[in-house]
Amino acid sequence: MQKKIVVGNWKMAPIYQREAKSTFSAIKKTGSLLRNVQTVIAPPFVHLSTLKGLLAGHRVALGGQDLFWEKEGAHTGEVSGAMLVDYKASYVIIGHSEKRERGETDVDVAKKVKSALKEGLTPIVCVGERVRDDGGTYIRLIRKQVQAIFSSISARNADKVILAYEPIWAIGKDAKREATTEDITETAIYIRRILIDLVGKAPATRIQLLYGGSVNDKNVSDYIEKCDIAGFLVGRASLKPPVFSRILHSVDKA
Ligand code: PGA
Repeated sequence: MQKKIVVGNWKMAPIYQREAKSTFSAIKKTGSLLRNVQTVIAPPFVHLSTLKGLLAGHRVALGGQDLFWEKEGAHTGEVSGAMLVDYKASYVIIGHSEKRERGETDVDVAKKVKSALKEGLTPIVCVGERVRDDGGTYIRLIRKQVQAIFSSISARNADKVILAYEPIWAIGKDAKREATTEDITETAIYIRRILIDLVGKAPATRIQLLYGGSVNDKNVSDYIEKCDIAGFLVGRASLKPPVFSRILHSVDKA
């Protein structure tokens, strides 16, 4: 059985290395006990150097929150996939809505995915709509986002990509509401169909699909039991070790 994946996206927190260390250590205590879950923590870049020293074994892995598609050179403020690998990251989040909001395009996302694969990183690529309209425009938007991701990579590499469905309206403290299991199931089916069109049936069924947006220790069991998903991308709750540990246990048991 394939392991479930739970990714903690720490975004721009915590401020202090000390806190990053203690939060990571507490999460590792739970994460390293679980057989059925791959825990991934994606801290701000600057904390990778601190946390890589705390990695031991493979049950908790590190990820970047972004990368730039060039390996090295005159690109102020950017971090490359090769640098992430050198800092012991094995995953990288790409195309998060908070990056897309500040100008990241589908073309940028595609270049980043390609470069992540080239460096041997597993890309966790976010897609999702700002509003869920009755007319179904959001499905066309998701199709466009998914198409862009897979247009730049070979069929052979398709199942090395992890997709994360992250509806923007369900993310963060200003979320409009939590997604229902129906919302997630419906979109997961659409995404799976889009993938079959793009890469063919066999690879499409192997591509892991995560859900992200206000996942917490209350809603996680319902989500994992009722929706056909491979795990979660967790924001706020991943900075609270007791809550995140409960999430990890629930997914491990499912
Ligand atoms: P949230 O963030 O869990 O705080 O809603 C999720 C995300 O943006 O990845």
